[in-house]
Amino acid sequence: MTENNDLTTSFGIPISDNQNSLTAGSNGPILLQDLYLIEKLAHFNRERIPERVVHAKGAAAHGYFEVTNDVTQWTKAKFLERVGKQTPVFVRFSTVAGEKGSADTVRDPRGFAVKFYTEEGNYDLVGNNTPVFFVRDPMKFPDFIHSQKRNPQTNCKDPNMVWDFLSLTPESTHQATILYSDRGTPKSYRHMNGYGSHTFKWINAQGEAVWIKYHFKTEQGIQNFTREEAIQIAGVDPDYTTRELFEAIAKNEQAAWKVYVQIMTLEDASSYRFNPFDITKVWSRKDYPLTPIGRLVLNRNPDNHFAEVEQVAFSPANVVPGIDFSPDKMLQGRLFAYADAHRYRLGGNYGLLPINCPHARKAINYQRDGLMRFDDNGSSSVNYEPNSFGGPKEAQQYKEPPYSISGDADRTALEHNNDDFTQAGDLYRLMKEEEKARLVDNLVDSLKPAKREFQLRQIPHFYNADLEYGIRVAQGLGIDIEEEVLQTKSVEPKQNINQENRKQNEQ
Ligand code: HEM
Repeated sequence: MTENNDLTTSFGIPISDNQNSLTAGSNGPILLQDLYLIEKLAHFNRERIPERVVHAKGAAAHGYFEVTNDVTQWTKAKFLERVGKQTPVFVRFSTVAGEKGSADTVRDPRGFAVKFYTEEGNYDLVGNNTPVFFVRDPMKFPDFIHSQKRNPQTNCKDPNMVWDFLSLTPESTHQATILYSDRGTPKSYRHMNGYGSHTFKWINAQGEAVWIKYHFKTEQGIQNFTREEAIQIAGVDPDYTTRELFEAIAKNEQAAWKVYVQIMTLEDASSYRFNPFDITKVWSRKDYPLTPIGRLVLNRNPDNHFAEVEQVAFSPANVVPGIDFSPDKMLQGRLFAYADAHRYRLGGNYGLLPINCPHARKAINYQRDGLMRFDDNGSSSVNYEPNSFGGPKEAQQYKEPPYSISGDADRTALEHNNDDFTQAGDLYRLMKEEEKARLVDNLVDSLKPAKREFQLRQIPHFYNADLEYGIRVAQGLGIDIEEEVLQTKSVEPKQNINQENRKQNEQ
């Protein structure tokens, strides 16, 4: 093949003029036979694909995960099989509610999605920078997201939608307390922690299982913007954290996280004081200490944003042998949602894209054809099973041990001891006075433009978490809590029920 730098059409035909269209006479109309112009304009019209319905704005980098501690007693996952083993990763950080062009520093959780290119296929851990979430049933997710996005009539962000939904959803109190704390406006993607958030299952070579939760702790230290700083930077440099990550990696600055798991036995799960599959709750570190497992390091920027960061497809359903799901209903809902979103956003053959295909082994199966099938499509190999031609076969050694379940098929709320507030209160009480003051100030600033009835409905949630917390938010809003809230609402403060040494928010 001859290589030269001559401009060509998409089909390799050399182009003689990339400045002037082909016209009938120099002032005349353009000829239909200017096929290069048509190709150029038509391709331009097709440059946009649907942005992610959530987490649309993101930044990413390549790197590796290295095992630092022996975890083979809990999982047989090959990429975790020995200390020192490294696995290539691609990590995408994101904001949640904003569009692809939105400002980076707005108050929002941050996505923390890791793709491990393991020899047993790609393992995706699609987490956030918060250990909990706003709702505990996937049925509520689209409504929750609608309330955080734009008003269907005005197309503006709408505090009434935000606080209408949250005040009617007491289970969101814990995550709202994190979101309106300093952690709602991280200074950079390198200066925040990551969490798998859900409970997952690890299974060892003997078929024994434990429940685990992942924690990624930044080695750069936690750093956050104040509300005022975040607002100012959103105006001056809306791409601030995107740029920060790219420039830091280009300059070989550190972007590393120590990775830990909390481990709970299956027996403990049935008696733990919080439902271990409730994503609005954390597990106490005193009960389940952090066990170090490895180190995540980012060290290479993407070459092309669209090819890699936009087209990458993470799914919580992509787990490797030795790692499995839990009955967390939110996780169960997500197992469907992501691949469905990818088929819509990227097309049915999205798994073939270089950023999404397995790197350390080949995908071999009987799936063929489809739009944009751009590899050899299985070439001449057999395309059905069973067959007599040596096609790929299932392998019994990957069968996971059975998981016993019982109960009636029914629509019931996840058991949560009717407690939406204890952990939000614990978190509040753990904050230093200046952190509490900023949390209250951020909440008051956000609640102020919302209707009085939504404010009055939200305050009892904070009050139930901690008396002082509720009183301070009410005071900030000019609400007499005794007269306007306590006389009329049912409030049962749960503070001090659980004064465990909660440390999840320490650096
Ligand atoms: C992205 C759905 C809960 C973290 C997405 C996308 C969808 C989605 C459809 C876009 C995927 C794409 O187009 O590539 C849901 C549903 C949820 C849920 C239905 C609940 C039932 C969560 C939770 C977390 C989370 C609890 C974190 C613990 C993320 C992240 C991304 C994402 C990090 C961006 C991934 C990337 O960088 O490409 N979610 N989500 N989501 N979600 Fe969720």
